[in-house]
Amino acid sequence: MTYKEQVDRSRLPRHVAIIMDGNGRWAKQQGEMRVFGHQNGVTAVRQTAEAAAEIGVEYVTLYAFSTENWNRPKEEVDALMQLLVHTIHEETKTLNENDIRLETIGDTNSLPESCRRELLEAIENTKNNKRMALVLALSYSSRWEITEATRKIAEDVQQGKIKPAEIGSDTINDYLCTAKYPEPELLIRTSGEHRVSNFLLWQIAYSEFYFTDTLWPDFNKEEFYKALVDYQKRERRFGQTSEQVLKTS
Ligand code: IPE
Ligand code: IPE
Ligand code: MG
Repeated sequence: MTYKEQVDRSRLPRHVAIIMDGNGRWAKQQGEMRVFGHQNGVTAVRQTAEAAAEIGVEYVTLYAFSTENWNRPKEEVDALMQLLVHTIHEETKTLNENDIRLETIGDTNSLPESCRRELLEAIENTKNNKRMALVLALSYSSRWEITEATRKIAEDVQQGKIKPAEIGSDTINDYLCTAKYPEPELLIRTSGEHRVSNFLLWQIAYSEFYFTDTLWPDFNKEEFYKALVDYQKRERRFGQTSEQVLKTS
């Protein structure tokens, strides 16, 4: 039986977040430059988006470029930005065919102008698509996001829009880039690394983690469904006891 057939469609995560890692190592294994790995990572993005949309996942957030990734060699950063422009341009049609809307989180103002323009255009051209949101985390890091949110909350307090006593965890949620998304039930990281690398720290408080040794360019539909099958074997307790959870489910 394929993994796709094993997925229980009545218990799908609504939101899956993915740390796409291992492009550089994949390229090295082939005796190629790191950029070659990034280029081949695009295939995995396409496969993952299609797999998620086909099965009925509503939101997929992909960690595509972190705040810290700006510190990589300039040639690699430039190549990644070029690849982004090119890919977004090429894929808009496929996104529309699959009824997927493109969205973004992160410090998009720090992206090169060409990149930002292409991104905004694709977001505009796909905004009415209903089946799934594909959210690209670009120039994103959780500490940057939380810092920005804190600043905005402070400004709103100063302007009298909210009172300090009214600030609750929902308030903080509302000021994050992810305000309109449900929390990811599942977080996947490829390439055998077991760390979060500044991704969605607030939002993954109760996410299930799935790690695979597969390098990102080799990730595909069945790998995605395998992660869903594994997720569905878990018992999510949210701090309660197993007995409590079983009684209410
Ligand atoms: C992930 O692959 C892609 C980005 C971070 C942009 P890496 O480039 O981190 O690949 P490794 O981890 O060096 O193999
Ligand atoms: C995390 O991968 C960021 C993205 C996938 C965009 P990195 O390869 O940059 O993370 P570290 O350096 O291994 O923590
Ligand atoms: Mg990496």
